Amino acid sequence: MKLPRNFFKPLALGAPTPLRELPIRLERMIHFVPPHIEKLRAKVPELIAEVDVILGNLEDAIPANAKQEARAGFIALAKANEFGATGLWTRINALNSPWVLDDVTEIVGAVGEKLDVIMLPKVEGPWDIHYLDQLLAQLEAKHSVKKPILIHAILETAEGVDNVADIAVASPRMHGVSLGPADLAASRAMKTTRVGGGHPQYRVLADATPGGEPRPAFQQDLWHYTLAKMVDACAAAGIKPFYGPFGDFNDQEACEAQFRNAFIMGCVGTWTLHPTQVPIAKRVFSPDPVEVAFAKKIIEAVPDGTGAAMIDGKMQDDATWKQAKVLINLARLVAAKDPQIGARYGL
Ligand code: GLV
Ligand code: MG
Repeated sequence: MKLPRNFFKPLALGAPTPLRELPIRLERMIHFVPPHIEKLRAKVPELIAEVDVILGNLEDAIPANAKQEARAGFIALAKANEFGATGLWTRINALNSPWVLDDVTEIVGAVGEKLDVIMLPKVEGPWDIHYLDQLLAQLEAKHSVKKPILIHAILETAEGVDNVADIAVASPRMHGVSLGPADLAASRAMKTTRVGGGHPQYRVLADATPGGEPRPAFQQDLWHYTLAKMVDACAAAGIKPFYGPFGDFNDQEACEAQFRNAFIMGCVGTWTLHPTQVPIAKRVFSPDPVEVAFAKKIIEAVPDGTGAAMIDGKMQDDATWKQAKVLINLARLVAAKDPQIGARYGL
């Protein structure tokens, strides 16, 4: 293991100093754009106002013969737009692919200063993060990039799930982890053909009764174990957990249920692959106005964050003050992005 005092040293001469805290940013949805399609690139200026993070996808779903076009398209869309508070990310190809080295070197060389986060697919262990960490430091130094580019890992192999706690603390560049249910299902040889969501045959059957009545069956959550393991690894490391893709664009109810499970469990956001999923993500991952109103009361009752107070018969102290601050800060970020939702917070 690396010596603690070396952990936050730049990995190349002239690379920016690694961050000790993640930047405070609203990341309710990471919206995927296929950058080789010009018609979709043209929608980016509208999307910047609409979503929290725009991600140019270079990996799966981009055909092998369009990999270079996608990379060039991403560089073009990064150059052509100002993103303001909206994040700019890319998902590069996997480390064992023939495209990844050019993905990283060309993108950091051309638009490294604008790029917030690189999403790395199929991460198996901390060694994958160490490789990209070192390469990014070399490229940041070479191209005089002033702020460190962060790394977001996709958890989508059985080995990755096994190593998720080590992945989460592999580098100060670690931004967060997303669940990748489609590749994970394949890696585990699960008997499914879906991108996220439940399965009608994964269920628990109620006990038989002496009268032989029909036995209700309850569908279970296929992703519960992995999501919980991922959330613990991220929370312990001080980085952000995300749900990933939901592939059935016609089933918005199931999509919302899947996003909400992840939100309740501790995830801060999700991927959106289709425009119809954006309002669902906003609904699920924006704080509840009732909670925000209560948080405001806590801050007013305990102005300097110490001591105790009672509100509506509930005890408040330093710990609830901290929770209230998290909610208020998140609500302020949401209000700055979405005045319509923000109006409901009355901040
Ligand atoms: C995402 O990349 C997934 O495999 O689910
Ligand atoms: Mg995948």
